[in-house]
Amino acid sequence: MTSSSRPHLVVLTGAGISAESGIKTFRASDGLWEEYRVQDVATPEAFNRDPELVLRFYDQRRAQVRRARPNAAHRALADLERDGFRVSIVTQNIDDLHERAGSRDVLHLHGEILMARSSVDPRLRYPLPRGGIKLGDVCDKGSQLRPDVVWFGESVPRYADACDIVAEADLLLVVGTSLAVMPAALLLEQAPLETDIVLVDPQAGSLAPPGVARVSRPAGEGVPELVRHWRREGRLWLPELRFGPS
Ligand code: APR
Repeated sequence: MTSSSRPHLVVLTGAGISAESGIKTFRASDGLWEEYRVQDVATPEAFNRDPELVLRFYDQRRAQVRRARPNAAHRALADLERDGFRVSIVTQNIDDLHERAGSRDVLHLHGEILMARSSVDPRLRYPLPRGGIKLGDVCDKGSQLRPDVVWFGESVPRYADACDIVAEADLLLVVGTSLAVMPAALLLEQAPLETDIVLVDPQAGSLAPPGVARVSRPAGEGVPELVRHWRREGRLWLPELRFGPS
């Protein structure tokens, strides 16, 4: 396929695509927000009030990400790219499982847990190849380092870029997100009218907005099944997938 004719798949992913890799989602009954209060660990006020608690929270999640491995859904998307499809991933996840599976075009809407950043100048970012962030770890300007993630109440600097990417989708695949958080959930409205949208999520039946096709299966089954159809035909289309009740 030449670059201009290459079908362009845009994939919007959420915590559900990493669930089968052992990383907790947020709003399930055993989710992260059942264990911690957002206002204690995921807001700028929380960081100002108790930076050590926030840094410890993200150190625990960072260790979990490092122990996790990409699953069949992450790998299937990387395989599709290797087959010549243009695959742009817009993820709400702060893990690096898409990259470790081999995806090369990944936009992290809510930041990256394996990066630290200055608490006074967001342009100053530092990779965290190992270990975590401790009180007293400072940026080049001498200010305390913080996780390079978007907290509740903070702006989403990459949202405009994400809109531009979705606006060029030949097909929009949405995987493992409850569509509960703005502005990420609004990205579905940025897809061209003629672009099909399909949601892969065990709760797709209750989550999918009108007009969105649903595959009510875990990402590790639904995504590879769709990718198999697309790789076999060399094009992006919505097969009639025979998965349980839709
Ligand atoms: N395969 C596919 N989807 C799954 C799986 C799975 N194996 N397991 C769970 N899910 C689905 C759930 O049904 C749910 O719809 O994943 C979704 C997870 O929803 P949330 O926990 O709300 O996570 P997410 O949508 O990514 O949250 C968005 O909220 O807390 C903030 O910044 C955080 O990026 C996060 C944002």
